[in-house]
Amino acid sequence: MLFKVPRGTQDILPSETWKWQQVESIIKHVSDAFRYKEIRTPIFEQTELFQRLVGETTDVVQKEMYTFTDKGNRSMTLRPEGTAPVVRSFVENKMFGIPDQPVKLFYVGPMFRYERQQAGRYRQFVQFGAEAIGSADPAIDAEVIALAMNVYQRAGLTDLKLVLNSLGDTECRKAHKDALIAHFTPHIDEFCSDCKSRLDMNPLRILDCKVDSGNPLIATAPSLPNYLNEDSAAYFEQVKSYLDDLNISYVVDANLVRGLDYYNHTAFEIMSTSKGFGAITTLCGGGRYNGLAEDIGGPSAPGIGFAMSIERLLLAMNAEGKSFDEEPNLEVYIVTLGDDAKRPGFKLLNELRKSGIRSDMDYMDRKMKGQMKSADRLNAEIVVVIGEDEVAEDVAMVRNMSDGTQEKIATSELVGKITSSLKR
Ligand code: HAM
Repeated sequence: MLFKVPRGTQDILPSETWKWQQVESIIKHVSDAFRYKEIRTPIFEQTELFQRLVGETTDVVQKEMYTFTDKGNRSMTLRPEGTAPVVRSFVENKMFGIPDQPVKLFYVGPMFRYERQQAGRYRQFVQFGAEAIGSADPAIDAEVIALAMNVYQRAGLTDLKLVLNSLGDTECRKAHKDALIAHFTPHIDEFCSDCKSRLDMNPLRILDCKVDSGNPLIATAPSLPNYLNEDSAAYFEQVKSYLDDLNISYVVDANLVRGLDYYNHTAFEIMSTSKGFGAITTLCGGGRYNGLAEDIGGPSAPGIGFAMSIERLLLAMNAEGKSFDEEPNLEVYIVTLGDDAKRPGFKLLNELRKSGIRSDMDYMDRKMKGQMKSADRLNAEIVVVIGEDEVAEDVAMVRNMSDGTQEKIATSELVGKITSSLKR
């Protein structure tokens, strides 16, 4: 075979797209119930957008971006995530000016990260994300988390764990950063080269380094909650109490740091606790990003959001043994016998389809038996048989496949009678 799907990507074949459509439909219904409107941004953006917003020192920007120079010599990047593009669009389209604040948006689309492929980790994956921009009300933090939880619940998942942390505001983050630098500096030689370069720029990232996770200095590192100032601690308490109101249980993990730079205050992840789920247990990640719109020249517009990949949602459904609705079967299959019957059959097929009836016929020149087999395979509810006699009489034989009854019906009445006899 000459060509293969690129590493880290996958073809989603028709038997799977049906599952995707069901999940996408849940996403649309839940987002609608929460009044989040869909936004579609381009697949690629200026590289600088991600460098500035996601952060120069993050793995995503340093190692994982699909960056290319276009023919106009501009550096472009396939979007690795959706928050930066949405905030760009929010500022560019002056959404901060519309009366309906906060602006609540969701998106579903492919993201690209050059990562090592493993179960649940791909180089192209589809994120469903939601962003609420323009409000610093802690209730909206709880709303955003509830939105994500609702999607999982509607998909039938129960083995879920919500992990929560507060990263505090700029002041607390600065105090914590200084404490981390002081803690790690004397021992930095024991750490990997990535951590060495993270030390000054972004020491928080040392805490979730995959290479150095066993180093005891990680466990004894200054803990974020001890650096929260009064306002940040109070904010976090309110978020938690709103979650309590919604009966959403959570565990607070002081070591939860997110891999992207724009977060402050609330940070959260939703994990699968299902035994069948692979090594990567995070289904969804999100948090607050006050100040991000200002960073790219917009006004102050505090935001919060999350993203989850549909791939991992489907894996979790699989791990929990959740079934999908049956794919709708074919309603009508038209069997024609002989050349003279084909054209009336073809015309009838068109009429049925115009009335929205799922219908099909044979295009492989099969004999009667072969056509009946196709109808069976497609689980057709009704089979319409047109032979030379039927053509001569201007009728068709309509067979109900569930009870085997059949009736001769005049051509002019076919669509109406078939429509009214379908189960639907
Ligand atoms: P993130 O934690 O980088 O956050 O990704 C969010 C989710 O995207 C992950 O929890 C996972 O479900 C999925 N994901 C990430 N990388 C991969 C991959 N290589 N393969 C499959 N799934 C993956 C963000 O992207 C933020 N923009 C989330 C956010 C929105 N924060 C605020 N608003």
